[in-house]
Amino acid sequence: MGVATVNLHTKFQIGTVDDRIFGGFLEHLGRCIYHGVYEPDHHLSDDGGLRSDVREALQDLSVSIVRYPGGNFASGYHWEHGVGNRDSRPTVRELAWQSTETNHFGTNEFVHLCRKLNWQPMLAVNLGTGSPEEARNWVEYCNLDSGTYYADQRVRNGDEAPLRVPIWCLGNEMDGPWQLGHVPVDEYCNRAQMAAKMMKDCDPGIELVACGSSAPRMPTYVEWDQHVMRRLGPDLADFISLHRYVGNSEGDSEDYLAITKSVDQQIESIDAAARTVAARQNSGRRTYLCFDEWNVWYRARTREDVDGVGKFAPPLLDETYNFEDALVVAMFLLSFIRHADVVKIANLAQLVNVIAPLKTNEDGVLKQSIYHAFRMVSSRKGGQALHQAISCDSYKSKTYGDVAYLDSAAIIDGEELKVFAVNRHLTEAMDLIIACADRPCNAVNESELLCHSDLNAENTWENPTQVASTAFEEIELMEGQVRVQLPPQSFAALSLQLG
Ligand code: AHR
Repeated sequence: MGVATVNLHTKFQIGTVDDRIFGGFLEHLGRCIYHGVYEPDHHLSDDGGLRSDVREALQDLSVSIVRYPGGNFASGYHWEHGVGNRDSRPTVRELAWQSTETNHFGTNEFVHLCRKLNWQPMLAVNLGTGSPEEARNWVEYCNLDSGTYYADQRVRNGDEAPLRVPIWCLGNEMDGPWQLGHVPVDEYCNRAQMAAKMMKDCDPGIELVACGSSAPRMPTYVEWDQHVMRRLGPDLADFISLHRYVGNSEGDSEDYLAITKSVDQQIESIDAAARTVAARQNSGRRTYLCFDEWNVWYRARTREDVDGVGKFAPPLLDETYNFEDALVVAMFLLSFIRHADVVKIANLAQLVNVIAPLKTNEDGVLKQSIYHAFRMVSSRKGGQALHQAISCDSYKSKTYGDVAYLDSAAIIDGEELKVFAVNRHLTEAMDLIIACADRPCNAVNESELLCHSDLNAENTWENPTQVASTAFEEIELMEGQVRVQLPPQSFAALSLQLG
């Protein structure tokens, strides 16, 4: 492979990298809430039911915003079941994952957890089996000062001050036949419009995310999105949601590592739809993109993996990640950074035990391979994404055509230049030169490398650090340029000091 180069100029900026692209997701699903972030009987738990080992691992992940309570679960959820005295909350059979839900964790517990971990809360209302008015009442419960029915209910439940939830999703994957209360697009728009108007009338300060189509493979792809944005307009739909789960079902790693080319395309297609709607409406305003579910998920998809058979917190969607999944997770984030002008929020689905970077058992917490990839980028948040002029060899992938061996993104943050780079080549190292035209690079700050000779390597309870980042020190500076050798199949996060 020839030398790869990334040429940058600190004035050639794409846009601010919104901290909210480092979001996460917690759903009442499997062992995500119960046995995940809420385990009141565990000896390590605080009075909010959060274990100290889980708390520490989540803190290090530098997550900014968390979506709750689903997912598919949201479309059958009645928020009033999850507030008030815990002993009087109803135990119900929920239909999204066929599990038993005790409602012991609900709105107040979630917002308290967010405060503890410095997360912004993001709630998804039920537009499946719920009513627009129920959604509006939830906004009152959370966000209004005392003096009215639902706000007073919150005060009685122990939260005198409003919970201040700034972002709300208008349902979840409503184009999907699997969704409770799934409807054709016009019917969804009727529900979403009614809910959005009442929710914003109740608290004009909130931002709303309308349901986009739930995956590029869906027959609704792009058309549904355009329709929804047209009907709701940017006043009611501040954001349109994108979802994406990927995997290597074919066992073709070269093709799998190219998959994020199609993530770029997904973002650009929905962005084109948003721009088209804004142009047609002759509006200076537009709807932005909220990638509120994304991850690798292809193994834990059998009937047993998704059906709770009436149990309380059964292990569902218990995906074990390997090293190549970590590279793909890193590349998702690089794609969001490259589209910083339009992608404002993104939520890794999910955070604990369910398609998650963290697994728990009675004795501890396991950081999966994808944990390290996510943290390497999220711990370097802040700054402006830069345009890159890249020169590099490419290969032909089965599904995605020509794909560059290098996948990268760059952020300028004051005096610091952060460059993220994946070498997709499975056998050859890549010589990479990074040159910033207007400012020389004169020092290297703490940088990290994630690499492994085996794409299938996993972290296990017996061997929990098989896949983990290491300090990356072999970074040369020559006349203001940076030279590094990226090992085959590796991901580097470089923090560089500019002169
Ligand atoms: O994250 C798991 C599920 O995937 C979510 O509940 C749903 O929205 C999506 O289909």
